[in-house]
Amino acid sequence: MRHTAWYIIQAIMTTESLTITRPDDWHLHLRDGDVLNSVAPFTAKQFQRAIVMPNLKPAVTTVKQAVDYLDRVLAAVEGSDFEPLMTLYLTDNTSADEIVAAHKSCFIKGVKLYPAGATTNSDEGVTDIRRCDAVLEEMQRAGLPLLVHGEVTDGSVDVFDREKVFIDRVLIPTMERFPELKIVFEHITTADAVDFVTESGPRIGATITVHHLMYSRNAMFEGGIRPHHYCLPVLKRERHRQALLRAIASGKPGFFLGTDSAPHDKKLKESSCGCAGIFSAHAAIELYATVFDAIGELDKLEAFASFYGPDFYGLPRNSSTITLEKSEQTIPESYPMADGSVVPLMAGKTIPWTLKPDNA
Ligand code: NCD
Ligand code: ZN
Repeated sequence: MRHTAWYIIQAIMTTESLTITRPDDWHLHLRDGDVLNSVAPFTAKQFQRAIVMPNLKPAVTTVKQAVDYLDRVLAAVEGSDFEPLMTLYLTDNTSADEIVAAHKSCFIKGVKLYPAGATTNSDEGVTDIRRCDAVLEEMQRAGLPLLVHGEVTDGSVDVFDREKVFIDRVLIPTMERFPELKIVFEHITTADAVDFVTESGPRIGATITVHHLMYSRNAMFEGGIRPHHYCLPVLKRERHRQALLRAIASGKPGFFLGTDSAPHDKKLKESSCGCAGIFSAHAAIELYATVFDAIGELDKLEAFASFYGPDFYGLPRNSSTITLEKSEQTIPESYPMADGSVVPLMAGKTIPWTLKPDNA
């Protein structure tokens, strides 16, 4: 018996733990209605704030719609101190006045550019960025960041090259026309994007998802077609994943956490035309910790997850903390979502890091 007690004490003493400033998620899909109510608590238990994407149906294109959506998000996380940061969905018809109103609202923190047809619910998106010049001018004046889904939609461009081509055809010319406009290059997936952000000045930031850090495109075809590893931008070659790992290991402030957690019902993913999107909100910070730990860069996690995002957006860093412990958890095969279910990233697998519950 004496021995048993000693072993328990030793186990407690040797549990590796990591306390960091509470992180934020700078790119998140919360959806609406019953799905929103199912998924939002996952984010609220880990993150203080999140940039909430506006690609609902219909899209959140006005300040009025954003206020109503904000209310629904707040209702879904009642009892937590989670703070949603809202965004507007840019269309060919967005007016400069809407941007003025968005800026005045104080709760809208960015305007999202979806090239029309690029991804889930992007059909109301922008057909040609030059149509938005008056809006971009106003955003530049207001200091309101443009959040870009950085892929061209030209059907003649290979799906795996769409991010690189976007840099040349859309991003660089837009930056030249609006030299002060702040831009977040969302969910970057290629060495080209890493190099581009590294070489750009501080007005360009980039979010990096945990799934693009964990997987190359092989994961979509492992023993068969794997719909739960399908997202947009699509997973890329291993050399691109390595470039993303080097970006987070560099500790450069241009790269920060954005999960792009994008829940879709299991049935809609496991279909002859499955939806794009990977759900990672259930264990996002634990999965990022696992990646940083695996490359021996755990000391860089806090700045990536908790400092560089607010610094870019000009917001205060959070003052509370969370604690992660190096103790294994097994991810469920699925979670209930509305009247269906969602298959999470790493479903059925075991990961080495766990968020300490009393800090959650
Ligand atoms: C996102 C979604 O489902 O809303 N899907 C995805 O694959 N990431 C949209 C997006 O961010 O492209
Ligand atoms: Zn997204």
